[in-house]
Amino acid sequence: MPFAQVNTAIPGPKSRDLIQRWTKVEADTTGYQAQVVWDRGRGAIVTDVDGNTYIDWTSGVLVANVGHAHPHLVGALHEAGQKLLNNYECPTEYRVRAAEKLVAALPPHLDKCFFLSTGSEAVEAALRIMKRKTGRFEIVGFHGAFHGRTYAAASVGGMAGPKRGYGPAMPGVIRAPFPYFYRCPFGSKTEAECADKHLELLDDAVRSASCGSLAGVLVETYQGAAGFIFPPVGYLKRLQDWARQRQMLFTVDEVQSSYGRMGAMWGHVLEGLEPDLLSIGKGIGSGYPVSAIAGRGEVFACLKKGEMSSTAGGNPVGSAAVVAVLEIMERENLCENARKMGDLFMHRLRKIQEKSRYLGDVRGRGLVIGLEIVKDKKTKEPAPDLIRPIIDNAAANGLLIGSVGIHGNVIRVAPPLVIDDAQAHESCDIMEKVLRGLEDKS
Ligand SMILES: Cc1ncc(COP(=O)(O)O)c(C=O)c1O
Repeated sequence: MPFAQVNTAIPGPKSRDLIQRWTKVEADTTGYQAQVVWDRGRGAIVTDVDGNTYIDWTSGVLVANVGHAHPHLVGALHEAGQKLLNNYECPTEYRVRAAEKLVAALPPHLDKCFFLSTGSEAVEAALRIMKRKTGRFEIVGFHGAFHGRTYAAASVGGMAGPKRGYGPAMPGVIRAPFPYFYRCPFGSKTEAECADKHLELLDDAVRSASCGSLAGVLVETYQGAAGFIFPPVGYLKRLQDWARQRQMLFTVDEVQSSYGRMGAMWGHVLEGLEPDLLSIGKGIGSGYPVSAIAGRGEVFACLKKGEMSSTAGGNPVGSAAVVAVLEIMERENLCENARKMGDLFMHRLRKIQEKSRYLGDVRGRGLVIGLEIVKDKKTKEPAPDLIRPIIDNAAANGLLIGSVGIHGNVIRVAPPLVIDDAQAHESCDIMEKVLRGLEDKS
């Protein structure tokens, strides 16, 4: 029996009713998603309020790494919540265990962490620490970067959306182009050439914009919101060296790329990096809102007592989530499954690409794969107008997908890391059918 079973039009009657009620009372400000009201999830399968089942390529928004509503995680939340929901600025046994377990899972040079609530909050904390520790204020960020919607995080980010219409962004940000090999403006023939050119652009940007107060670099392992853009291998290491030569701190934003998403616990380790700070979110709670910042103790030491704190940071339930998620990742070998399933997806999707008129690029690592949709594979003209029909048709066939991209034309393949062979193949069959359907209509 197929996992995906859609027996109503989309949206089904209950979904339609709830969407109408929702948009009457909650501000309608979110991006476009499949017109489906989720009721429950288990593993990589989601069921809507009309009883339709879908294979999930979204993991929420790359959150449910251990699978939706994993029983061990839900049990841990329940147990902790029955005892105590919140306390402030002091340890509980849950908080101590969470910090011990997280530090044990980090690369050895990162020996301290601090718990917060959202990814943006973790990024804000990293920016503050980079300034506080160095006594300087300039931050180097990248075109296309997304670090969240709070003021400093959005200011360093290189997407217009979170900034447009809000007046001046935070001063002291220097932004350089990020290497995007598929669309390299220099027409580079190799990834190495693309990396070289972009490091030259970084030097140019800093030479022309810095007033001599360079504090730190903030960079994603791969750019998520910009369209799952993976920099050339070795670029990030050279960037880290570049920062160190200038006595700057180097922060990797792993809110999205960590917790097995790239087929390893930490994406930066795959690139041989040794960042001073890491911002961590999403998968760390796999559905419960927790985030953290990790760093070297010596870096955190720049903060005096009382300088970093957060109302819900380190609460018992969030802390229980941190421990349970790490236990599940270990027990179920989720990094390995992400690598194995990632290879399967890559193989299938590249085969689909060969036959598809619109699938211009398939790129990724582990279970984070971007499908770039173009009008013409030769000109690479982006086709953002095809994304909505693809999302809708995929949902009608039992596949939930989301989209990203500077040009709004990249489909995210980012299922929970527990997805299995049969679900992976079935979901690729659905995507193949949806893409073929577009061609039949044109
Ligand atoms: C790389 C990265 N950093 C930061 C954030 C912000 O996280 P949050 O939405 O939890 O504030 C995101 C969210 O998508 C992200 O992908």
